Amino acid sequence: MADESRVKERVLNVTRPGIKPKEVIDFYKTWAKEYDQDHFGGANYTGPWKVAEAVAASLGNERNARVLDVAAGTGFLGVELSKLGFTNVDALDASQEMLDVAKTKNVYKNFIKDFLGPNRLNIKDDTYDVVTGSGLFSNGHVKSDCLDELIRVVKPGGLVCLALREVLLRSSEDCKALEPRMAALQSDGCWEQIKRDVFSGYVIGFDGVVYLFKVL
Ligand SMILES: C[S@@+](CC[C@H](N)C(=O)[O-])C[C@H]1O[C@@H](n2cnc3c(N)ncnc32)[C@H](O)[C@@H]1O
Repeated sequence: MADESRVKERVLNVTRPGIKPKEVIDFYKTWAKEYDQDHFGGANYTGPWKVAEAVAASLGNERNARVLDVAAGTGFLGVELSKLGFTNVDALDASQEMLDVAKTKNVYKNFIKDFLGPNRLNIKDDTYDVVTGSGLFSNGHVKSDCLDELIRVVKPGGLVCLALREVLLRSSEDCKALEPRMAALQSDGCWEQIKRDVFSGYVIGFDGVVYLFKVL
């Protein structure tokens, strides 16, 4: 059982205001081996389950969908998708060490080590039916500047489902632009929001917010 205060200290440290992306990736490099133990034991982390559940509910009985799990980390979301019957799921993350742990779960087909940002991913247009992500947006982590790229790799009619700690929408300089950018992409006809749910118990006692978008 992981120590609750240790988990909280690590989560708040790697998401502290002003942390730089390189520091974040360096942090996960050393955290990778204990990340699962920490989250299973002491973080009460429900984000991956919330995202997987929202995608499954939206797809009905369809389980052959090609899914890209972004900022997949050690694969918590992949495990939840697998439990729900999804077998065609790829993982993308900037940390090789986190992806190495994810490989041991046997729930992903392909592994892509890449950085999510304004840069172009080495993925063709309209490749995936669904993009998922939990715990990706935070200080020094993924920002709204990657949303265009997530939309580009999803087929028209496909889904994007993302979850984060709700308070970050107001408290994080890196996350404040998220909802305005989501709204702008809707105004521009790139996607439409199907769901925005705030829920309690996302991680270490914080509320979460889960979004589901349909790509147009
Ligand atoms: C809090 S963990 C979440 C992992 C997993 N989705 C989960 O729910 O357990 C954040 C992950 O985002 C990755 N990450 C952070 N910034 C990134 C970026 N700009 N591009 C790609 N991955 C990034 C980290 O390497 C780490 O694996």
